Amino acid sequence: MRDPKDSLCFALDVSSAAEAEAQVRQLAPYVGLFKVGLQLFIREGPMLIRSLQESGAARIFLDLKLLDIPRTVRQARIAAGKMAVDFLSVHCEGLIHPPGPADLEQEKSLPRFLAVTLLTSLDETDLRRLGYRRNLSLLDVVYLRTDIAKEAGCAGVVCSGREVEAVRNRAGKGFLVVTPGIRPSWAPVSGDDQRRTLTAREAVRAGADILVVGRPIRKAPDPVEAARRILEEIEQGCRDRFGP
Ligand code: C5P
Repeated sequence: MRDPKDSLCFALDVSSAAEAEAQVRQLAPYVGLFKVGLQLFIREGPMLIRSLQESGAARIFLDLKLLDIPRTVRQARIAAGKMAVDFLSVHCEGLIHPPGPADLEQEKSLPRFLAVTLLTSLDETDLRRLGYRRNLSLLDVVYLRTDIAKEAGCAGVVCSGREVEAVRNRAGKGFLVVTPGIRPSWAPVSGDDQRRTLTAREAVRAGADILVVGRPIRKAPDPVEAARRILEEIEQGCRDRFGP
């Protein structure tokens, strides 16, 4: 079985480099991937990435959710390569009609794309407001975008817990399924804005490879203990999925 730590991505949803570095120092033994989002990156800039690596972050997911024309998206990915991040998030619109054939040598050194299928804040009513046909469900859109992400050579997709199993089956092996909205039964989040939550065990059992966890660890009385418990749940989920 692979190391459960590789499946745990901690969201550094804080507003200063000092706080983020402290969290990395505390959690690096238990967390294989640290996620830097827009709030922290806009505030601290690219220098932050180096300082997180020096604080012990083994791998970094830069969650900027790029949305632009494919040429600009590609240039942003090349620029992100200079920061040595492992993953970079992108919306599927920017993956259609890639600009020319990829330079395969350069490809290897660039961060791998994780494509956002649909923002978890959207529901069916929002899809209609955005102009999607009435007979197109959330899952239809997620499927279509998973196909686009695969064709574009992405490492995987980010999807809500509700879609994990369907996306896993659609995408097949070797394609990462990343999901936020992890809520351990022992750590309710007050005023929760996550809609379609799963426990870590349920998410892994359903086929998720990487779980993005923020508040259940950050707001826990003992974040290290919370991370350890989530790792145990990941192990249980792996046993459910693959056997002992
Ligand atoms: O909810 P939690 O604090 O565990 O959030 C972890 C990550 O999940 C956030 O960094 C954000 O990217 C994502 N998130 C989401 N939908 C929400 C809230 C957060 O996908 N409604």
